[in-house]
Order: sequence, then structure tokens, then C-alpha cells
Amino acid sequence: MTSSAAQYTWAGRFSEPVSDLVKRYTASVDFDRRMWQQDIRGSLAHARMLAKQEIISKGDLIDIERGMETVQREIESGRFEWSLDLEDVHLNIEKRLTNLVGDAGKRLHTGRSRNDQVATDIRLYLRDAIDDILVLIRGFRSALVDLAEKEAATPMPGFTHLQVAQPVTFGHHMLAYFEMFGRDAERFADARKRTNRLPLGAAALAGTTYPIDREFVARELGFEGVCENSLDAVSDRDFAIEFTAACALLMMHISRLSEELVMWMSPRIGFIQIADRFCTGSSIMPQKKNPDVPELARGKTGRVYGELMSLLTLMKSQPLAYNKDNQEDKEPLFDAVDTVTDTLRIFADLAGGITVRPEAMRAALAQGFATATDLADHLVRKGLPFRDAHEAVGHAVKAAEAKGVDLAQLTLDELRAFCPQVENDVFAVLTVEGSLAARDHFGGTAPAQVRAAIARARSRL
Ligand code: ARG
Repeated sequence: MTSSAAQYTWAGRFSEPVSDLVKRYTASVDFDRRMWQQDIRGSLAHARMLAKQEIISKGDLIDIERGMETVQREIESGRFEWSLDLEDVHLNIEKRLTNLVGDAGKRLHTGRSRNDQVATDIRLYLRDAIDDILVLIRGFRSALVDLAEKEAATPMPGFTHLQVAQPVTFGHHMLAYFEMFGRDAERFADARKRTNRLPLGAAALAGTTYPIDREFVARELGFEGVCENSLDAVSDRDFAIEFTAACALLMMHISRLSEELVMWMSPRIGFIQIADRFCTGSSIMPQKKNPDVPELARGKTGRVYGELMSLLTLMKSQPLAYNKDNQEDKEPLFDAVDTVTDTLRIFADLAGGITVRPEAMRAALAQGFATATDLADHLVRKGLPFRDAHEAVGHAVKAAEAKGVDLAQLTLDELRAFCPQVENDVFAVLTVEGSLAARDHFGGTAPAQVRAAIARARSRL
């Protein structure tokens, strides 16, 4: 063994050191040091278990706890010297601990491998991230409900094929997103259950020869259970993939909303304004106010999909058990956490910064024959089969279009030319308010139903 290889924790069987490039290529400390708190938490739980089982002495445990306190303070204050030579967060912390407390630090790794250590750290980290995300989703959904309540009866065109279809209320439209993000929250909560299992004790892959107590460590760390198979515990990252899939779905919903916000605030449509703090100007065109935040969110959705693909691909060809490939799980995962966390934080604020322009939405409604279905339904109530009613209204729409007016602007005689059954009460049916109020059932857009949905939404939050 040369003296230059000796600096590595694992240098025993090596005769030459790695090149600087290989060192940089294989090291993860630049990105995995963000798990330092989880690493310390995991190590302390492991050390307590070792002492309880009399695998290390009480004195060793006291030294380890004292040393870790110093390590923690050093990291928090930015005084800790992270070293690329020590590869990753685990070896950096262990080495510093050993410098501080000597042999007790060297005993910490008894019955443990970095393989089960890193799997534990990621799960702890992800569990914390999921808890944060769940709080953020709740905040965002609550902002959506506030907006829905303000605009519970505000008519806007509902679209299919991006063409005016039927009137809905803006509040109803916002509650559609409330539902989507509610399912996202359920997915995160569900992924949390499978994340929250303890790998520690699996050691490198086969378990360990020491009389360990895995249940004790699980309880110390707040895990709901212990991974049942040591090979599976150290190798699979399906929980991270599942989490990222939930992130991808959430971002897909964010992206749909963003697309709508961008369209709605285009001066050609002008349904909404979003607060200036979410927009930027153009460096050349003085008149511009660009919806940067929703556009970036739409763009970042692609980035999170990419992270999901990275993780799926990372895992697919790995034989059991641990392979160094798995070190590549962290950057996509952390970036997905950061992107989703930032996006949710911004969107909760953004939802509160939306102002609706009811006149623009009403003007759009007046142009698309939005109450044609209401006329057909009215004819059905007068006894016509729906298919015949549909055809009759089709002709009326054609006539109105030729005349350049909305259905409600045709005279009774003009309507009767296609639909002889109609009487004066037809005009109430053709109004936007009439159309909205008529959809008065669970899940419908009638303002009364929207208000009831808002009350349910609040109680579900
Ligand atoms: N830095 C490694 C990772 O992130 C820790 C596990 C290393 N294990 C090993 N056998 N090289 O996966």
C-alpha cells in the first residue's frame, strides 16, 4: 500500500490511488451532503442500538453522541470541511467523528455498510420532503378554494376542443384543479408508506453477524416497519421512482393550469390578470408583461418527467444487490423535490394574485352559442326526442350565425321556424345565468352547487 492510497477509508487492499478525474467522477459529496442531518440521525440510532445490544460500550456511545454534536454544530455553522477525498457524506461525517472521538468513531460502522446507510438516509430525506410537500399542497389547494369562493358565480366559457362549449363558473373551474391536486396529495401520502421502511441492518447485502435489533432502530427513526429482505433493502429504489412519478403527475397538473393562465392573460383573451410579481417585462418591447412564472412551470414539468425517466432507466438493468449506479439516484431525486417544492410555494401565492375580468369572459360567452345545449334540453322538456331537438337547434345556430347574432337574440318567430314548440319562456333558458343555474346537481356548475362543493372542499382540507 502506497502512502497516497492510505488516505482512503477502504484503502487496505489497494496499491495505487485513483486519479483526480476518477476521484471527481466517483465522488458524491457535492450533492449528497444535503442529507447530512439524516446521516447523523441514522448513525445515532444505529449507535444506540449497538450499545443497547452490548455490541459497543456505553462509553463508546457517549463519545459518539458527543462527537456528533460537534459535527452537527460544525456543519450548521459552515465550518465543516467537506473533502472530495472522502467521497460522500457518510465517509466525511464518519472521518470527522473519528478525528474528534477516536476509537468510538471507528466502531460506529460495526454491523453496518454504506449500502444500508445510504438507503436509510434517502428514505429519511424523502419522508421529510413528502411531509413538506403535503403541507405545501394543502396551502395551494386552500388558495384555490379561496379564489373559487370569490368567483363561485362568475360565468366563464367552458371549453371543449378549445372552442366555447357551455357556460361554467370560474369557481367551478378552479375546483377542478382542487380535485386534481387532491389526488396528487393522496399519491404522495401513499408513496410515503412504502418509503417509510428501515433498510438498516441489511448491511452490505446479506445482513450482519452481530446480534442487532432492527425494530429498535426503526422505532428510533420513526419508520413504520423494517425492510423484510436484505438484498431488496440495499438495492431497490422503487420508492424514489414512485415519489418522482407523483411529482411528474403533479407537475402535469401544474402545467395544464399554467397553460390556461398563459392563455387567459393573453391580451387576445384577457380573462384574467396575474399580479405583477409573477411577470417580467421585455428588454426590447416596452408594452410587454410576460407570464414568466406559469411558462417556467410548464417548462420545468419536462425537467421532472426527465427525472422520472432517469430513475426508471437507472434501475432497470441492475442485478441484485447494490451497484454504484444507485449513487446517480440523488441528483434527479433532489431536483424533483426542489422543483416541486418551489413550484407549489409560488403557485399558492400566485393563486391569490389572480384577478378575474368577468366582462371579458361574458363577451366570449356571447360569441360561441354557449347555450345551444340548453335550448335542446328545453325542447326535450317540451316532448321532443333529444336527437330531434339537437338537429333543430343545429339549424337555429346556423341561422343565428348567418345573422351574426347569439341564439338569445333571435326573435320568437325566428326560433319557431326551427323549433315550433318554443314559447316565450325559452329566453330564460338561453341566458348564461339560466344555463348555469340549471346544472343543479352534485358535481355540476350551478353556483349553489359550486358553493356546496366549496364547503365540502374546506372540510376536506
Ligand atoms: N455514495 C454511495 C451512494 O450514494 C454510498 C454507498 C456506497 N457503497 C458502495 N459500496 N460503494 O450510493
